[in-house]
Amino acid sequence: MTSRLTSPPASPLGIIGAGAIGATIARLAVAAGLDIVIGNSRGPETLAELVNELGPRARAATSHEVAREAGIVIAAIPLIAYTDLPASELAGKVVLDTTNYYPQRDGRIRALDDQESTASELVQGHLADSFVVKAFNNITFASLGNGCRPTGSSERSTLPIAGDDADAKQHASALLDTLGYDALDIGPLSQGWRSEPGTPAYCDPYMPAWPAGSLSTDELVAWLLSAPVIPVSVEQARTLIASAVRGPAGGYFPETS
Ligand SMILES: NC(=O)c1ccc[n+]([C@@H]2O[C@H](COP(=O)([O-])OP(=O)(O)OC[C@H]3O[C@@H](n4cnc5c(N)ncnc54)[C@H](OP(=O)(O)O)[C@@H]3O)[C@@H](O)[C@H]2O)c1
Repeated sequence: MTSRLTSPPASPLGIIGAGAIGATIARLAVAAGLDIVIGNSRGPETLAELVNELGPRARAATSHEVAREAGIVIAAIPLIAYTDLPASELAGKVVLDTTNYYPQRDGRIRALDDQESTASELVQGHLADSFVVKAFNNITFASLGNGCRPTGSSERSTLPIAGDDADAKQHASALLDTLGYDALDIGPLSQGWRSEPGTPAYCDPYMPAWPAGSLSTDELVAWLLSAPVIPVSVEQARTLIASAVRGPAGGYFPETS
């Protein structure tokens, strides 16, 4: 890594990817008083409805503009698209990587299948001059949107973060705090597998047991959005992370009817 990290302004927060997780983080950020600039692959004009919903703190832009204009940028895109992240514009910046490996969606990635890398190490390899922090990957968009709580609340949840740069992780923790979450530093990016799909800390601790039987995609989303959020304390998160055993990489989307 050749760039030095300069202290980034928290606002505007950049978000590349405006789907389930990107739009949820955008809503949390706007609710917390941050300005956001958000982009996707199809262009800013396709984000008019979302930006309209988010109000005057939100602006749509191209991914390259997002990367240029924001100090901290969230990468909320399918892992398969990580090489599209604009590396030169993101140089020197903190990039919070939400991605997870789902072979059904992303295809097989040998370095992950062979456990030579974690998903966020791949992203860091592409963004060689950025400061990648793995964050927001182990909670569903629905739990994330419904589970934010103010600092000190007994119902506050903890999200693991991993990264190779201590300052970048501090900035990530501060952002999580602003959005309503405690952060647990689980180590460098090489330890990021501990919060990846299939591990004890992945999604399930924040929600009730999945409903039995086959649901349609719409029913599943409705269930996720209406399910109560189960708070995960720092100590609980630490225990879950410590109990992880590295198994085959990648998650599996449940079949929907
Ligand atoms: N959904 C969850 O609950 C959840 C939770 C934690 C982590 N994650 C992870 O977070 C990532 C995003 O998941 P998601 O569920 O939010 O996905 P999603 O709903 O499918 O949204 C993906 C977004 O990424 C954009 N995108 C795709 N390729 C792009 C590119 N090359 N450049 C710029 N933008 C691009 C898409 O824009 P277009 O529509 O214009 O292509 C879309 O806005 C995934 O890696 C996922 O595994 C998801």
